[in-house]
Amino acid sequence: MTEELGPSTGPLLPDWLPPEIDQTKAHPARMYDYMLGGKNHFEVDREAAEVAMRGNPAARAMVLENRAFLGRTVRHLAEAGITQYLDIGTGLPGAGNTGEVARAIQPEARVAYVDYDPIVAVHSRALLAGDEQHTTVVLADVREPKSILEHPQVRELLDFEQPVAVLMVALLHFVAEDEDAAGIAAAFRDVLVPGSALVISHGTDGGQPEVSAAARKGWDNAKSRITVREHEEIAALFGDFELVEPGLVQLPLWRPDGAVREDWETIWLDGGVGFKR
Ligand SMILES: C[S@@+](CC[C@H](N)C(=O)[O-])C[C@H]1O[C@@H](n2cnc3c(N)ncnc32)[C@H](O)[C@@H]1O
Repeated sequence: MTEELGPSTGPLLPDWLPPEIDQTKAHPARMYDYMLGGKNHFEVDREAAEVAMRGNPAARAMVLENRAFLGRTVRHLAEAGITQYLDIGTGLPGAGNTGEVARAIQPEARVAYVDYDPIVAVHSRALLAGDEQHTTVVLADVREPKSILEHPQVRELLDFEQPVAVLMVALLHFVAEDEDAAGIAAAFRDVLVPGSALVISHGTDGGQPEVSAAARKGWDNAKSRITVREHEEIAALFGDFELVEPGLVQLPLWRPDGAVREDWETIWLDGGVGFKR
């Protein structure tokens, strides 16, 4: 698997690292970056990602499909006229990030990026510097919705009297079983005005709990573990938001750009887009 990762041979991290960046524990953002073929990860992240990919050889395909889903959904939202985005659990900035996709259609689109990983904040701020009119980067934890919804930078950039798209793409499976993912999703839904949208993708066990558990071992000692949920539980995260066609489906089936990959059933992530009417 490693050979296929191409450029992921070594870190492209600044030689100065803020002390809050923990190199002793795998972090989901850095594992994800490694699996996507990025350059911002430490040995501990690569080892953990390799455990996941050995546990389920489709793990990397899932990560790539998830990123592609993010792009298709943002394009859909921008085409629907949405110009404000709250992208939570944004990950390390890379090609096809939310702002890039949205602004190709809505040049004035504004994006608040939120993540709980300091390394994401460091990289995002460096990359997005000079674009404060359209972008802000906030270090906050989705498990404390108020810390995001009342954050001065978020409030300054986004007008919650107008439609906002909240993105929780490959995020809520990092919220443990006893941490009330449903309550968290509801807290964000509740502040949105009609015309707003919610995008969620979330891991399932694909009906193969043993393989799923083997892959999830990769996150056992990480900053957050992965908790898979049933399709119905994921659907419930949308509350009374109206899901656009084709509803909540395995990611390759959500408005594919071309032919659907033959092995789409191996992609154990469900995703959808819901609108508040
Ligand atoms: C798998 S990455 C997904 C990145 C991006 N959303 C995408 O789909 O390409 C998950 C991200 O969620 C972040 N994350 C995990 N738990 C979080 C939490 N409780 N609050 C905020 N961010 C969190 C991680 O740091 C990581 O950057």
